[in-house]
Amino acid sequence: VSFSRLILIALILWLGWMGPLPLFAETLNSPLQPISGPPIAALADWEQQRSVLQNQFQAEIYGWLPQQPRVTGHFLHSAQLSGFPARFEEHVVLFWWGKSLLRRIHLLILAPIQATPSKAAVMFLNKCGNHTLLKTSELPRYLPLYQNLCPAEMRERGWQSDYWSIAQPLLAGLTLISLHESEIAPDDPVNFAESLSALPEQIFKPGSRPGLIAAWAWGLRGVRDYLETLPEFQDKKIGLFGHSRRGKAALLATALDPRFDFVIPHQTGTLGAAALRLHPAESLASITTFFPHWFTPALAQRWPESLSIDQHELLALVAPRPLLIDEGQKDFWASPALSLATLNAALPVYRLYGFNFAQGLQSWLPEQPSQTLFEQRVAHVLTADAHTMNRGYWQAIVAFLRAQKIL
Ligand code: GCU
Repeated sequence: VSFSRLILIALILWLGWMGPLPLFAETLNSPLQPISGPPIAALADWEQQRSVLQNQFQAEIYGWLPQQPRVTGHFLHSAQLSGFPARFEEHVVLFWWGKSLLRRIHLLILAPIQATPSKAAVMFLNKCGNHTLLKTSELPRYLPLYQNLCPAEMRERGWQSDYWSIAQPLLAGLTLISLHESEIAPDDPVNFAESLSALPEQIFKPGSRPGLIAAWAWGLRGVRDYLETLPEFQDKKIGLFGHSRRGKAALLATALDPRFDFVIPHQTGTLGAAALRLHPAESLASITTFFPHWFTPALAQRWPESLSIDQHELLALVAPRPLLIDEGQKDFWASPALSLATLNAALPVYRLYGFNFAQGLQSWLPEQPSQTLFEQRVAHVLTADAHTMNRGYWQAIVAFLRAQKIL
């Protein structure tokens, strides 16, 4: 093959890849358009369509969430955190199926100490244990269940203290709830398959087996059941935050469960907030090859156009609740521009609920004094960061929740 031919082939491939980009939302169908029949114009019809979409996402992409377990739990202890205007509580949450104990989860609640009770709580999964959020020796420390997934340095107290920067949200009056992801399901194909097959067969719905993202969403919903039993959460809004793979799970859990009052999918990319049909940097083939245990196994044989849903419809399932998508300009893999396009394609459903977005949504750059963007029900924040979490994002989250009158 001659050099000029190679250039021509490369150009064609590049155009094929880039082609849909300028068209953005035009390439995504409206979530209000069912596969057959007229577009949805009434909220009652959307409610019906909502459950159709919820089923499709589980059947085709994530697998069916296991059935809700019976959930119990108890308070272990509580203390004030020195040097922080907050106290922590430790609880144990138990998932049961009949008499079998399925899961035992250590729940950390960090509650700001302030004159009036905090109005909102954000729950999130952490990678290697609750004690990794803060350097203090006051937090209880447990050995991770799967030590191969958390090498020695990741098990240290405060290993992720800069990343989580929890002083920032606590000072703003936000309650934080965190749990170690492996206590729900481990992020590794072999251990995950084992932990799933240890569950009783009757807990699975027939059809698509759940992957890790669905399993995590199942766990977050179970913990939500437990929070319902605690008086301190009766009047609080409870939303989910999740970074990357954990954000994919936070988004799925919120799309499926109306009891989550808001969601902040943080740098979630492919099969999070970036639509597959917009050709994200991480393709469907790539994500299912490198992370075969994240989704229902049959997804690996599909291509984006063969699926009946795409991620803008998952975002639309969050409506009418507040939705803040966080991205970093240097996080090419998570496709920040595509999550904005995907979000714009979800807006018809928010509009149906009466929210207005005059000229479509732009990203909010922290250096811009554009508070009005945050007064909208959904927002897309774009910082100069790479793939990470930090204090700056909390500032944006707090500003957004305040504008929504949640905080
Ligand atoms: C990988 C994966 C992403 C995922 C990310 C993360 O980069 O390709 O899909 O979001 O890990 O979880 O940090």
